[in-house]
Amino acid sequence: MSDAIDVAALRRAEFPWADRDERVYLNNASTGPLTQRGVRAAQQIVDDRIEPFRIDDAKNFAMLERTRELVASLIGAAKGEIALMTNTSYGLNIAARALPFASGDVVLVHDREFPANVYPWLALEKRGVTLRRIPPAGALPDEEALIAAIEREPRVRAVSVSWIAFSTGFRSDLRRIGALCRERGIWFIVDAIQGLGADFLDVRECSIDIMACGGQKWLLSPWGSGFAYVRAELVPQLDPQPVGWMAVKGSDDFTRLLDYDLTWRDDARRFEVITIPFQDFAGLGASLELLHELGPAAVARRVQSLATEIVRWAGSKRDVTLVTPADSARRAGIVSIVTRDSAADSARLKTAGVAHSLREGALRLAPHVYNTSAEIERALEILDAG
Ligand SMILES: Cc1ncc(COP(=O)(O)O)c(C=O)c1O
Repeated sequence: MSDAIDVAALRRAEFPWADRDERVYLNNASTGPLTQRGVRAAQQIVDDRIEPFRIDDAKNFAMLERTRELVASLIGAAKGEIALMTNTSYGLNIAARALPFASGDVVLVHDREFPANVYPWLALEKRGVTLRRIPPAGALPDEEALIAAIEREPRVRAVSVSWIAFSTGFRSDLRRIGALCRERGIWFIVDAIQGLGADFLDVRECSIDIMACGGQKWLLSPWGSGFAYVRAELVPQLDPQPVGWMAVKGSDDFTRLLDYDLTWRDDARRFEVITIPFQDFAGLGASLELLHELGPAAVARRVQSLATEIVRWAGSKRDVTLVTPADSARRAGIVSIVTRDSAADSARLKTAGVAHSLREGALRLAPHVYNTSAEIERALEILDAG
């Protein structure tokens, strides 16, 4: 394919350790590696900070602006819909706290969601909001039951799902759920951290109201970087919670800090709580530049093809159960499998230097764009030898 990624060049330039090291990193669903360009961008700001007379506020704020732009263009949003946040949880809390929930409202999530998408909603129960967890169908989220609950239950005010489920790799059909929510005036919230970077989405096509995403996994970015998308029509309706000192109009002018004028910014920056770690957002911006350069579609194809190698292998083994759906439309970068003795196999992989994780009793293998088929084969050979 003409836009195929030159993986050898990518590894040399951005992930040089991957060729130096005997070990294989298939744990991108836990923490992705930093890109070399991200490290350089972050280091530049750290260097400025070491000799603080070098700090350039205007340059740092321009970098944040550029990073918002890069996020927006990756997800089909406008820059004014992006608030920079230090993790996924922050964006989910914006949804839980800034949306005007009332006593009697119901929020739907899948049971077995990552806790970041459960606790902020559970915390609303004190205000009379009910969190309903839809039981899974077998190991996987039960999307049909979620849809049925949205259709049946008139008090549903919000639905919050992971795009890709952290333990099973199950991909939610965001377009379908989002369209139904929009039609019924239900807020649709998405935790994108296990998907974005392995695959890409368009927030408008998916009718998303608020999307939260940390940078530390598939976006190959520093801890402490991430963002929330808030749909433009919603921004002026929502008061920020919590309130930062740059949430208000006029706060770019540091000579007027004591005006105390509580007029929110018109855009999603009203949700940001400044000061945020400039160095980490420089890293995020640089890694997003890389994903843009490689081409989101090409990155997604490559991740999909590496994941499919694991899925095919699992399908050919009688004593291996594939937890992740085999259908490529229902997964992205995470492939979870249960072997005859997953804990022992996990230990063997670890000893052999294959980084992965054990989640809910399954081996979770999560290749990213820089991984190679040879690395996947190596991991599978170790499992075969068990
Ligand atoms: C689905 C999901 N949401 C959220 C997180 C993490 O949230 P945060 O970025 O707030 O640490 C993880 C993994 O750590 C995850 O798998």
